[in-house]
Amino acid sequence: MVSSLDGFVAKKDGDVSWLQSTDSYEKGITLTEKDIAEFLKSIDCYVMGSRTYQQALELGWPYGEVPVVVLTNRALRPDRKNVGCYAGELPSLVYEQLKPNYQNIWVVGGPTVAKEFIQLQLADEIIVSIMPIILGDGIQFFDYIGQEQRLHLKEVKAYKDGMVELRYEVGNP
Ligand SMILES: NC(=O)c1ccc[n+]([C@@H]2O[C@H](COP(=O)([O-])OP(=O)(O)OC[C@H]3O[C@@H](n4cnc5c(N)ncnc54)[C@H](OP(=O)(O)O)[C@@H]3O)[C@@H](O)[C@H]2O)c1
Repeated sequence: MVSSLDGFVAKKDGDVSWLQSTDSYEKGITLTEKDIAEFLKSIDCYVMGSRTYQQALELGWPYGEVPVVVLTNRALRPDRKNVGCYAGELPSLVYEQLKPNYQNIWVVGGPTVAKEFIQLQLADEIIVSIMPIILGDGIQFFDYIGQEQRLHLKEVKAYKDGMVELRYEVGNP
């Protein structure tokens, strides 16, 4: 997920307009359209919580025709053919439905869902992109996740707009 330096992934009212950075970092890299297209092509399936799903519908659907699993205990009826809902045990979802069918499964968030995946040790990697902003308040990413987890730093990238991407492998380094 994308976070402010002080660990928030959205403002209290859900506002994520601050994800558009106005900063400039001279030595940072710039992604071309081709880079972004290739990166998106590498994702085989998205998983997200119902709040993130509903916000994506409001802001403009960015996931195209890639399969999307929305976690919800409500009877949502998605209009899109590539969107399905799931309620139940997350290990069953991952090991019985997702891993046999998809290689690169991207948990979009929000923090409720991301934390469940980390707590249940279902995440192989955690990618956090830090934006050059202190929000001061909002919805926290890791607030009191309640368990220690060793990570292995795999990659660090700094971008022209001041965003720093940290990629960690989860497990015993
Ligand atoms: N900065 C970023 O990169 C980023 C990325 C994603 C989201 N966000 C932000 O995060 C906020 C939303 O995050 P959030 O943590 O409040 O909500 P969320 O994780 O998007 O959704 C939580 C909802 O997902 C459902 N859910 C979660 N675990 C479930 C399970 N095991 N089984 C069935 N349903 C399950 C429940 O839905 P029901 O209530 O329907 O049962 C729960 O209320 C938004 O403001 C969004 O902008 C930021």
